[in-house]
Amino acid sequence: MLRVEGLTIRSEDRLLVSDVSFALEEGRITCLIGPSGCGKSSVVKWLSGVLPDGLVAEGATHLDDERLSLPTPAVAYQPQQDSLFPWLTIAENAALGLEVRGMSRSEARAWVLPLLEAFGLGGQAARFPRELSGGMRQRAAFLRTIVQPGRFLLLDEPFSALDAVTRLGMQTWLCERLRETPRGVLMVTHDLYEATQLADRVLVMAARPGRIVADIPITPPRAARTEANLAEIRTVLRSLLMEEMT
Ligand SMILES: Nc1ncnc2c1ncn2[C@@H]1O[C@H](COP(=O)(O)OP(=O)(O)OP(=O)(O)O)[C@@H](O)[C@H]1O
Ligand SMILES: [Mg+2]
Repeated sequence: MLRVEGLTIRSEDRLLVSDVSFALEEGRITCLIGPSGCGKSSVVKWLSGVLPDGLVAEGATHLDDERLSLPTPAVAYQPQQDSLFPWLTIAENAALGLEVRGMSRSEARAWVLPLLEAFGLGGQAARFPRELSGGMRQRAAFLRTIVQPGRFLLLDEPFSALDAVTRLGMQTWLCERLRETPRGVLMVTHDLYEATQLADRVLVMAARPGRIVADIPITPPRAARTEANLAEIRTVLRSLLMEEMT
């Protein structure tokens, strides 16, 4: 289990995130929702060890009750923008996360190449990011993240650029991988359908300062959820978000 305790983030002149605490469990998906600008990406960046210069954070992380220092190889991170390197091909970009973790270039390529097809990127291996659509780039960035071995995945709006059918395909693919290898997932999303279909728990953030105002478990297993269950939870989530935005 990965626990975050008392995370506070400040910019030079503002308190951005106040006293955020949560835990991620292996085999569980936690969705993080909240209005634009409330600090979701800042929380995830901090946990990935890439908080930008100019922001200062305080907070503790524990992995299985051991104090953890950041950045940690226990987490793999997909930023909100795809952050692909423009001078690398799609295959090279997808393999980069593995190379950074010490795999040889050829081994990393051999690992990702057979997956490109499943990501709708078959035939794109040698192309450069600028030659692909936004949705294709986002899938390449998702692939780069998910092949990394970290026990926890931090996904910042990983499917926001995808059409509905492709998104469903990626969600299903993710759930299948998690069944094979249980990992803890923190997924930022604005899509309440995505949150209720995928999450075991939904954390709702409010803004000014960013803080968690609700922590809603979704207990039925994903396969047993009925549309009526999910609609009820979406109504609760929607009203929490509206309350915070008015
Ligand atoms: N480098 C920075 N310096 C100062 N303020 C920043 C910096 N980065 C982000 N912020 C501020 O922190 C707040 C939270 O930003 P963040 O990107 O975490 O929001 P978010 O919840 O992910 O929003 P969205 O849903 O639009 O992605 C915003 O008010 C933003 O202006
Ligand atoms: Mg964001």
